[in-house]
Amino acid sequence: MIEVQGVRAGYGDGPDILNGINLVADAGKIVTILGPNGCGKSTLLKCIAGFVRPRAGDVRMSGTAVTNLKAHEKVRSHGVGFVPQTDNVFSSMSVTENIMLGARFVARAEREQRFEALLTQYPALAAKRNRKASALSGGERQLLSLARALIAKPRILLLDEPSAGLSPRMMHEVFEAISEIRAREGICILMVEQNAFEALHISDTAYVLSLGDVAMQGRASDLLADPAMRSLYLGGDAPH
Ligand SMILES: Nc1ncnc2c1ncn2[C@@H]1O[C@H](COP(=O)(O)OP(=O)(O)O)[C@@H](O)[C@H]1O
Ligand SMILES: [Mg+2]
Repeated sequence: MIEVQGVRAGYGDGPDILNGINLVADAGKIVTILGPNGCGKSTLLKCIAGFVRPRAGDVRMSGTAVTNLKAHEKVRSHGVGFVPQTDNVFSSMSVTENIMLGARFVARAEREQRFEALLTQYPALAAKRNRKASALSGGERQLLSLARALIAKPRILLLDEPSAGLSPRMMHEVFEAISEIRAREGICILMVEQNAFEALHISDTAYVLSLGDVAMQGRASDLLADPAMRSLYLGGDAPH
């Protein structure tokens, strides 16, 4: 479980990008963060992952304050898996090598077993396990970055725009994979998304950020039905 309480954050000596964010994400749920470009979604995820230190407020994981822990400490002690927004796959390395990069802290005996289970889960990656990651499609690259996070058996999974740049069909596959992870692993999934309508469909709850504040929050199904939400983020009437 993640609890964010009154988090303010920014970069260097620049202005606050986050103005006091409150958010809760429970285990076994998918929580989505929506909002326009530049409103601070990635910054919030980086605060939770430990790449940006909050200027004020607290981040707790399973009830423990982790606000000032560094990213690698959160990985080790709280099982945080982070898939960043910007290119997160090493093109010149093979699919297998990319996945194994995530296994640094996994006991040797468990590594192979987790690896084989992931290949069974994602046949598209199994078929190209010895190929360079540069040979993958956009959707396969997203699956690869998911697999790299999953090999560490995370208890908290942070995903920054997992469907960015994908065709509608591939977006559907990636969201399907994320739903499956929730069902199979029962872990806490917090994701940032631009594709609001599709993301809300697989989410339990969502937060809409605007200029560093939470503008709206609620159950995903309620937000899907909310007229203000529709006109702002969902392109008018709900698609049929
Ligand atoms: N490393 C950085 N250094 C300075 N400013 C940054 C950095 N990363 C993001 N910003 C600024 O913080 C604001 C929020 O960015 P970001 O969190 O990436 O927004 P979003 O993910 O919602 O598009 C933007 O104004 C952006 O220019
Ligand atoms: Mg972003």
